Amino acid sequence: MRARALLVERDRGEATRRELVAVHALRTDLEIQEDGDRLAFPLVSEASVRPEWGTVDVRDFEPRKEGIPSEFRDLLELPESELRLVPRSFDVVGDVVLVRLPPELEERRFAVGEALLRFVPSCRLVGIDRGVRGPERRREVERIAGSGPWTTRHRENGLDFEVDLERAYFSPRLAGEHARVAAEVRPGDAVYDLCCGVGPFSVTIARDGRASSIVAVDANPAAIELLRRTLGRYPFGPRVRPVEARVEEFVLSAANAHRVIVNLPHEGIKYAALVAPLVAPGGGLYYYEVVPREEIVGRATVVQAALSAHGAWSVPAVRVVHPYSPSSDLVAVAAFRRGE
Ligand SMILES: C[S@@+](CC[C@H](N)C(=O)[O-])C[C@H]1O[C@@H](n2cnc3c(N)ncnc32)[C@H](O)[C@@H]1O
Repeated sequence: MRARALLVERDRGEATRRELVAVHALRTDLEIQEDGDRLAFPLVSEASVRPEWGTVDVRDFEPRKEGIPSEFRDLLELPESELRLVPRSFDVVGDVVLVRLPPELEERRFAVGEALLRFVPSCRLVGIDRGVRGPERRREVERIAGSGPWTTRHRENGLDFEVDLERAYFSPRLAGEHARVAAEVRPGDAVYDLCCGVGPFSVTIARDGRASSIVAVDANPAAIELLRRTLGRYPFGPRVRPVEARVEEFVLSAANAHRVIVNLPHEGIKYAALVAPLVAPGGGLYYYEVVPREEIVGRATVVQAALSAHGAWSVPAVRVVHPYSPSSDLVAVAAFRRGE
């Protein structure tokens, strides 16, 4: 059947599929098909797609076959007692899939890997995500299916990021945060992106084009190297100044900025207080922390008190980004320094 099609590079396949599903633009009655080096996604006829997603054309599609599994666990042949422990969710970073498994499924990990490799279009490599560790928040990963390196190119908010899952932190679960904070930047703002990792806040802000300057700071040389590679591919790359440094050193000689972002959740409020003096009157501080669930309601008051040594602040209620553990959440905090 002939239908509008979105043509994208294979390594952007899963990210594009998710973006299309999110805006209800993907036709579910037709098969996604291979088109040379690209994938062709059947589009709902009235759907509007962003130009950076790919090329829109018309293609012939096969009707979607019955019996295609809707979950990857449907591809696993395991006893029911184990099947119910298989997680429904997994992360896709470029052409790499990461999954977390409960200890009871450790011996089944290779079967899980093969199922994910078959289930996710354009997946090249599947790994167990064993969490992030150490000051540089590097992810511990173990290959369970597929092949090749842990380096990949991940598409987020219409931008392609150079990622190395072993050497520098990256999480595909923060795409909404990167876009949300970038949208807060006003024309002429000076921005500091502290603990920038591979730079998703900075690169998004640079693409949006309103900031007068953007400085991206991280102590991990690998993160700064990956950020430089991403910036090198974009005409707006020179708007970001990557700096390899510890935040503790950077604050000693930095001038004020209008937007200061600190994303080091396990240091949370400690680093927020450390960098608060850098926020210009009238500016905003954006940071993340892990908070026990029962403390979330009163958290804004606690933050306001902690920042009060550095001027007067208004702190709206904190926002939950996602669950972190059975009893805590990752929350986003925005604090605004009153004008003087
Ligand atoms: C949770 S990651 C945040 C990455 C990024 N902002 C993002 O949204 O993807 C924290 C980053 O902080 C960096 N980091 C940790 N301690 C630091 C310090 N004292 N000074 C500068 N960077 C630090 C780590 O190397 C890591 O890249």
